[in-house]
Order: sequence, then structure tokens, then C-alpha cells
Amino acid sequence: MKKIFIVANWKSNKTEKEAIEYFQRFEKIYKPDSRKQVIFCPPFTNLSSLSELFKTKFFNIKLGAQDVSSFPAGSFTGSINAQEISEFCSYCIVGHSERRALGEDSEIVNKKINNLIENNIKPIVCISSLDQLDELENQEKCMIAYEPLDAIGSGHPQDASSVQGVATVVKKKYDIDFLYGGSVNMENVSSFTLNPRIDGVLVGGESLNPDSFWGIISNA
Ligand code: PGA
Repeated sequence: MKKIFIVANWKSNKTEKEAIEYFQRFEKIYKPDSRKQVIFCPPFTNLSSLSELFKTKFFNIKLGAQDVSSFPAGSFTGSINAQEISEFCSYCIVGHSERRALGEDSEIVNKKINNLIENNIKPIVCISSLDQLDELENQEKCMIAYEPLDAIGSGHPQDASSVQGVATVVKKKYDIDFLYGGSVNMENVSSFTLNPRIDGVLVGGESLNPDSFWGIISNA
């Protein structure tokens, strides 16, 4: 049976205190299921405390970052590099459209991918078109999250049959896990996760509340 990935992208949300409160609630409702890999991608500032929390509770949940520096360690003021996040994370989102909109191109995305792979972190590379897939390096070492621009945060997800069409093209080229992202919620999640070509979902807004995110996990 295939493993389903359910990735929470908290974006720029949650202070340390809010993150701890989230997991106080989540602990009461969450039941592990070995067929589902849950991955939380909180802000950098929460990675240290959540990795400590996950050592004592939520053993089977993994942590990811939402971005990483394209540079290695060194004189790059304000940057957080792949080696630094490797103490906490097994995954890292890169190339999210919200970062591409700020000027991140495929050359930068590729540097990030390569730095992550060198540090044994699995890149979750966001693409909004198949052209972006072809511009990547080391695709076979990545997980792909297909996020159509008009589906993100709009309440209008792409329908699962169109997503399946994209997944089919991606999987013909590369033997990799394919996630869908864009307005996933507890009502529509199974239309994606029950599709044999789709390996999971990347969830933004609906991951910010522990009850709605648990609804997504349990319905996936
Ligand atoms: P959304 O965001 O679930 O709020 O649409 C998804 C994403 O941007 O990763």
C-alpha cells in the first residue's frame, strides 16, 4: 500500500507560544497511522523547540523547513543554511510560488536543492507548471508538490482528474512522489489522496488549526 504524505505549510504564522499551544490541542486528537506520513513545516523559529517536542511525543511526525539558503555556511548575514536545518529537519520546501514571486528563479532553486541533498534533507519542490519541473536538477532525489497558482489560498482547488493528468506526466519522467497543493481541506482531501497517481497533499491555510488539520489527516 502506498504511503500518503500530508505536509503542513504554516507559512509566516505562529509564534513559539502559539506553536506549543497548537500541539497541546493536537496531542488530544491525533492518532498515528503508519500509512500516513505527517510532516510539519513551521517557521524557522519553531524548529528547535518542535524537534525537542517530537523526540518525546509524536515520534512518527517529521519536521521540515519552508525554505533554505542557496549558500553554504559562511558570511551570508541573515541566511539559514542546509547544514543548520539538518539538525532538526528531514524535509524542506523549496521554490514555493510565494518565494518565486519575490524573484527566486530555477537557478536559485537548484542551488537550494543541491545543498539540501548534500545534507540528507529531502527537498519538497513546488512547481506550478511542467516547465518548472524540466528546469530542476536532481529531480529524482526530490518530492514534487504541484501547486497551480490560482488554487493557492483561493478556496478553489484544481479538480483531481486534472491533477492526475499532471501527475501522470511527472511520473512518466521520474519515479518520484507527487503531491498536490492548493485549497486542500478536510472535504476535498480524499479526492486527491485516493487517486493512485497522487502521493499526498501540501496544506497551507487549513493546517493552521489543529482540528481542521486533523480532519484532513484522518480523511486522507
Ligand atoms: P493553501 O496553501 O492550502 O492555503 O491553498 C497551499 C500552499 O501554498 O502551499
